[in-house]
Amino acid sequence: MSCVSAEMSLITSPTTLPLIAPSILSADFANLGNECSAVIDGGADLLHLDVMDGHFVPNLTMGGALCASLRKALPTTYLDAHLMVENPMAFIESFADAGANLFTGHIESNDDPIEMANAIHDAGMDAGLAINPPTDVETILPYIEAFDLILIMSVNPGFSGQAFIPEVLEKVKIVSERLRPSQRLQMDGGIGPATVNVAKDAGCDVLVAASAIFGTDDYAAAIEGLRTA
Ligand code: DX5
Ligand code: ZN
Repeated sequence: MSCVSAEMSLITSPTTLPLIAPSILSADFANLGNECSAVIDGGADLLHLDVMDGHFVPNLTMGGALCASLRKALPTTYLDAHLMVENPMAFIESFADAGANLFTGHIESNDDPIEMANAIHDAGMDAGLAINPPTDVETILPYIEAFDLILIMSVNPGFSGQAFIPEVLEKVKIVSERLRPSQRLQMDGGIGPATVNVAKDAGCDVLVAASAIFGTDDYAAAIEGLRTA
């Protein structure tokens, strides 16, 4: 069983960096297909799906059926599923079947990180490991090698529109110097025009933003602003 993805993907073999990942958590859910097309047409590199179970975080959002509908509507778009759930491994098959490209679980979940990485790769997806702001970076260091992407949360997960927690930048530096060129470092939470540069300077190369994109009138300008700020 291999620990690293054998396939080339947007995450493991990007042609440009940083990648801008709109989180659809702040999209108009009644108009979701058009919202997703609008950010992709506006220059987004991928879509970030925030999956919440009401236990790991105090909110409920979306599941595999929604991912499958987006895959049907957007056959070539890279779909990044961020699982804020207690048992992410229980959902690997459902998101793989739904056409997700990246499946990220949390170090704070109940599942073993190496078993999770192997199961995600066996299901044909890129594998991500996320860490919450209060969690010590030491907890993920033994597992970094097994994943294609490390996600440093810069807010406590559950809701969009929260303020960026700058203390997490120390973690970015520590993780960044341990990554292979094919591994990505993602930041999620409170990213906008005022915070995107510190994230990039610290070493993040996949930037998630919900409110800073879907909360504006011009998605293309917001995406370009985050890319070139
Ligand atoms: C937080 C989610 C984020 C969130 C980001 O629980 O994981 O992806 O949607 O929202 P903003 O960019 O508004 O902080
Ligand atoms: Zn997220």
